[in-house]
Amino acid sequence: MTAPVNIQMTVNGEAVSCAVAPRETLADFLRQGLELTGTHTGCEMGVCGACLVVLDGQVVHSCLTFAVQADGSVIETIEGLNDRSVIADIQEAFHARNALQCGFCTSGVLMTAHSLLSQPGVPSREQIRDALSGNYCRCTGYEAIVDAIESVARDRAAAPAARQIEEAGA
Ligand code: FES
Ligand code: FES
Repeated sequence: MTAPVNIQMTVNGEAVSCAVAPRETLADFLRQGLELTGTHTGCEMGVCGACLVVLDGQVVHSCLTFAVQADGSVIETIEGLNDRSVIADIQEAFHARNALQCGFCTSGVLMTAHSLLSQPGVPSREQIRDALSGNYCRCTGYEAIVDAIESVARDRAAAPAARQIEEAGA
């Protein structure tokens, strides 16, 4: 049996130090080692997008990443995004438009949406669909998901103008 490997990383702002099996995936480490079960595992072969996490600023498939490869990294999971309230408007838009049914894909979809909406500009529906091409949802038909993401993109783009108008009228 191969000896465990010591790794250190920052997960959702917390320093983590642990011994892991060399072939343990980051997804399994997050879910079983740290009990961060918002990261889901579906296909476990890089297709469905249920396992997406942010690793050093890049969205990656945690099912295709060994935990040892994340040694020294900064990782954020769906729990971290939720706790920092940076996706609250996306979550509200999903809720308002019924953009989820069983919810299995949703944490990965929110990861993709957060990544897309962190870029400047308002993405077109085509760009939103393109960004979602790595997220497999078997329930919704995607229309409501695209609607929700598009509405947040527009609201965020309008927010500075709205704030300026408020300030001017104050
Ligand atoms: S579980 Fe990682 S892409 Fe499906
Ligand atoms: S809401 Fe069920 S898989 Fe997407």
